[in-house]
Amino acid sequence: MTNAPRSRRVVVLASGAGSTMRAVLDAARDESYGARVVGVITDKDDAGALAIAHEHALPTAVVRLADFESRALWDQAIARTIATFDPDLVLLAGFMRLLGEPTLDRFGGRIINTHPALLPAYPGAHGVRDALAGGAKVTGCTVMLVDAGVDTGPIVAQAAIEVLDDDTEATLHERIKDVERGLVARTLGRMARDGWTVTGRSVRIGAAPSTIREEP
Ligand code: GAR
Repeated sequence: MTNAPRSRRVVVLASGAGSTMRAVLDAARDESYGARVVGVITDKDDAGALAIAHEHALPTAVVRLADFESRALWDQAIARTIATFDPDLVLLAGFMRLLGEPTLDRFGGRIINTHPALLPAYPGAHGVRDALAGGAKVTGCTVMLVDAGVDTGPIVAQAAIEVLDDDTEATLHERIKDVERGLVARTLGRMARDGWTVTGRSVRIGAAPSTIREEP
């Protein structure tokens, strides 16, 4: 017998180095974490996340936009591919594309994203660069639920990071990522273990009926 909570199935979508996903994989070594990665999907052949997935003997899928005749067909393929892993939660860990209706219709409300800025400031593909260009003195990272907009979903967790006078996009992003990896891993674990509710724009983890499906 074990007192560990049921382990929620997480599919990770990643386009980049995969260090955020690695933090989740490390956290999930603890059986009380409450979530485990069951598959990794990327839109790029050379995503570092793929190599990390292979290290962990995880099933992977590469769904390249260029292989499809239209964006709509790619959207459908992404949704179908996610579904093959039968996830409880979908984590976007540096996935640099917007998800379309097929994925939102099927998994909306349980897709989690992370962004390297304090939303609603500096959304989009260049959150770090835009914060620097905007003269921000404090920026950070945001874990949020995904909706149809660009980084507009309800905020789940945030952490602030000071911008230094001599920061470049690279140095600032590295300091953000140092904090972000822990924030994502902790937040995903809490959501998997305790569920969450969304009231208007406000997300609360725990102390309420879970939005994650119950066991059949
Ligand atoms: C993270 O900083 C994440 O917030 C960002 O990509 C990085 C992924 O790093 N995502 C976005 O900018 C999405 N708009 P990783 O590949 O090392 O996990």
